[in-house]
Amino acid sequence: MTAEIGYWLGESMWGRGFATLAVKAMTDYAFASLELIRLQATVYEWNSASVRVLEKAGYSFEGRLRNHVTKADRVGDALIYAKLRP
Ligand SMILES: CC(C)(COP(=O)(O)OP(=O)(O)OC[C@H]1O[C@@H](n2cnc3c(N)ncnc32)[C@H](O)[C@@H]1OP(=O)(O)O)[C@@H](O)C(=O)NCCC(=O)NCCS
Repeated sequence: MTAEIGYWLGESMWGRGFATLAVKAMTDYAFASLELIRLQATVYEWNSASVRVLEKAGYSFEGRLRNHVTKADRVGDALIYAKLRP
């Protein structure tokens, strides 16, 4: 079974390592508690902080969906990251 992980912090909480801590903790919890073989996340290509969060939590880049997302009139790629059951 595959699951998708997503996360969102209020701006006043950015840059303190909270997202990295939370994604690591939720990833460990999900693999320990659910019958998952795979967790994945989709990131806007320009969201470098989120890419970094996923890399630090052990997720690997798997692919790019070209022109898959639009935000405030900006069209861009979506990046797929995944982590497999350890
Ligand atoms: C993306 C988000 C979750 C990051 O949360 P955070 O708690 O600030 O992240 P962390 O403090 O754990 O930092 C993660 C890494 O990103 C880096 N980083 C932060 N801002 C960055 C930026 N603008 N560009 C590049 N790297 C950045 C940090 O330096 C850190 O890497 P390091 O430890 O190697 O130095 C947060 O900004 C957020 O909620 N944004 C709005 C919603 C969103 O984008 N959600 C993700 C959707 S995929």
